[in-house]
Amino acid sequence: MTAGKFDLSNIVRPKIYNLEPYRCARDDFTEGILLDANENAHGPSITISTGFEDLHRYPDPHQVKFKSLMAQFRNKNSKLSVEPLLTSDNLCLGVGSDESVDALIRACCIPGKQKILINPPTYGMYSICAAINDVGVVKIPLTYEDNTFQLNVEKILDTLRSDQDIKLVFITSPGNPTGQYINLADIERICSSWLNGIVVVDEAYIDFGGESASPLVNKYPNLAVFQTVSKSFGLAGIRIGITFASKELSSVLNAMKAPYNISTMASQLGVNALSDKSIQIMQENATKINKEKFRVLKELTSLDCVEDQQISGLDANFIMIRMKNRDIAKQVYLNLATKAKVVVRYRGTELGCAGGLRITIGTKEENDRLIKELKNITDQLLK
Ligand SMILES: Cc1ncc(COP(=O)(O)O)c(C=O)c1O
Repeated sequence: MTAGKFDLSNIVRPKIYNLEPYRCARDDFTEGILLDANENAHGPSITISTGFEDLHRYPDPHQVKFKSLMAQFRNKNSKLSVEPLLTSDNLCLGVGSDESVDALIRACCIPGKQKILINPPTYGMYSICAAINDVGVVKIPLTYEDNTFQLNVEKILDTLRSDQDIKLVFITSPGNPTGQYINLADIERICSSWLNGIVVVDEAYIDFGGESASPLVNKYPNLAVFQTVSKSFGLAGIRIGITFASKELSSVLNAMKAPYNISTMASQLGVNALSDKSIQIMQENATKINKEKFRVLKELTSLDCVEDQQISGLDANFIMIRMKNRDIAKQVYLNLATKAKVVVRYRGTELGCAGGLRITIGTKEENDRLIKELKNITDQLLK
């Protein structure tokens, strides 16, 4: 284990650490007759009215308004008292968190040599981005006790101690497909014991359950936290992912991103999603989803063919049930999609998830249909 102080310049690849960000004339001047960026002053050549102004102009590369509102929202909703509070300088935006995953891997891992560590069962994109970047993947499965998935902290720390080529540890909290919030104390323990890389906590589902680790980036310089507007904010179509990190790491990530990665439309809708009124709608919807989650769980686990105890935690906007007869789970999934036109996700091949179907909680009507069709299909299959 590296002793002493965390030094980001030893973690980020030197060419990226020293990167000069792209600059344009509009970093200095934004008003007047703008003939600096080879845009088309005649405007968009489309026949519909979009409601968005200035689509012929490049978007703001820095997205300060969205970032400030997001920082404020997380500060206000946090029970952790960490100083200093988050500011826009702690954030970098990506085209969904999927771009954020790729950016951190490119920033920190030398292709063909260095590695990331993941905790299966987990979100698939970490391994895919690692493969694209020719970066190795070390797997330390989550522990599974009393129906709860958690980190195997001892094994993770032992592995990090013995393999200096691991540069990133990806932790999903609440997990996908586990739906389980990960103990913050375990995450903090890894952050304070391992200074040879960055601990990444992917909080795509955090607004459905658990305390966000995001304010902790100002306590642990080796922590990065991913969030997204795709889940609780209901804006998967606009593609905004957020990385919270120390100001130093954030400025590296901002320097390496494509300057105009967030479109004008995404940006304006994202800012609107962070108004007080929109946040209230988001929170009301999250509450509705959480309530429905328990109802759907109760209905499904009372079916004869489904195990009484779900596989997953209940901290996200989905549940994972287990078919008593593990072998029919895939067929139930296929019949649901093709005969009943209800699409869920078969997760039976994931570690610890044999017979598992992951079901996103929809509207009440959608959930009622799911319950009815799942019952019909399993009755037919087991007849
Ligand atoms: C854990 C996790 N992270 C990230 C994402 C993707 O987020 P985005 O839509 O921002 O790319 C998902 C989507 O399913 C997810 O489950």
